[in-house]
Amino acid sequence: MKGTNRKMTQGSLMRLEELRSGFRGTDQYIDFLAKEETIRRILEMKEEKDVLILGHNYMEPLIYQISGEGERGDSLALSKYAAKARNPIILFDGVRFMAETAKILNPEKKVLIADLEAGCSLADPFGAKDVLEYRARYPEAPVVTYINSYAEVKAESDYCCTSANALDVVKHAASESGSERVVFLPDSFMGENLQKELVKEGSNIDLIYPGKKDNKFGSCIVHEKISAVDIRVIRRQFNLPKGGNDTAVLVHWECKPEVLDVADMYGSTSEMIRYVSSHPELKRVYLGTECEMSANLANEFPQVEFIRSCMVHCPHMRKITLDKILYSLENEVYEVNVPEQIRVKALGAIERMIAI
Ligand code: 13P
Ligand code: SF4
Repeated sequence: MKGTNRKMTQGSLMRLEELRSGFRGTDQYIDFLAKEETIRRILEMKEEKDVLILGHNYMEPLIYQISGEGERGDSLALSKYAAKARNPIILFDGVRFMAETAKILNPEKKVLIADLEAGCSLADPFGAKDVLEYRARYPEAPVVTYINSYAEVKAESDYCCTSANALDVVKHAASESGSERVVFLPDSFMGENLQKELVKEGSNIDLIYPGKKDNKFGSCIVHEKISAVDIRVIRRQFNLPKGGNDTAVLVHWECKPEVLDVADMYGSTSEMIRYVSSHPELKRVYLGTECEMSANLANEFPQVEFIRSCMVHCPHMRKITLDKILYSLENEVYEVNVPEQIRVKALGAIERMIAI
């Protein structure tokens, strides 16, 4: 291993050593040692080719840590980092709709993803024609589309939103258009959750989402697996009382409404992270979301015990592996492209979101 280090630049060598000391003593140290050569090559490629490697909160720890501060986060943060990128190449460690968003914001840059088949159960079944159907049914209503969608869908929408800003975007869309009715696509559970939140706030907005007035349906295959019964069982088994002083159950907006009802807090992935970091009294936490996020947070907050329920894995996120990342970087393959006409229209919806 020492001989190979000679070729490394100062920056990538330092990062490798930072990762080594960060993983030492954690559950992933053996994995780090086993994959050290691949990680070393990825860091070299990153520096040599001046690549911005963006990492979603759901990446497994060895991949997540390759991206530094200001390069990892939730969908909203990653879109903002992508919008400011100066590097000629962006490699997205996340799923394809996320990489596509980076490409929409950076048409002149090469945007790579380690596996072009990394889809999403919300984005995959939903096409531009579905948006047009809702538009025809509710011509007065602005259309807000969740970022978990492909460019052709964003292109037909008025606004894009993420789980971190959906409520603000919906309210903004209503006041800007003067319509009390707003279409929200394609997540049925999140639509229902947002509608409940609007009612709680005393808003008159009538949110139209798949399943409310039709028999369409959109959901995340990870979050829909979590039930309110699961949460109650976890609370009992791991002594996580509702409203506990030093414990918390945090769940994602994409969970079912009855799951949000029994949680202590709900939000986007980064909002959950901020909740943990702003509550230093926490000793035990369950995150109702992709299981790898708990592994990442366990490294960041060693004083907190994270209860992990690892039936909750996203098969799309798991397609991104260190070996595929290295292959993509070395050969500059698995490029994400968006036809220019669609890109320009989709950019409008994303820029309107970023402006809010
Ligand atoms: P966030 O925007 O909260 O990171 O969520 C993305 C996602 O795919 C959740 O399943
Ligand atoms: Fe899509 Fe769910 Fe996977 Fe997120 S966790 S990428 S919403 S399938």
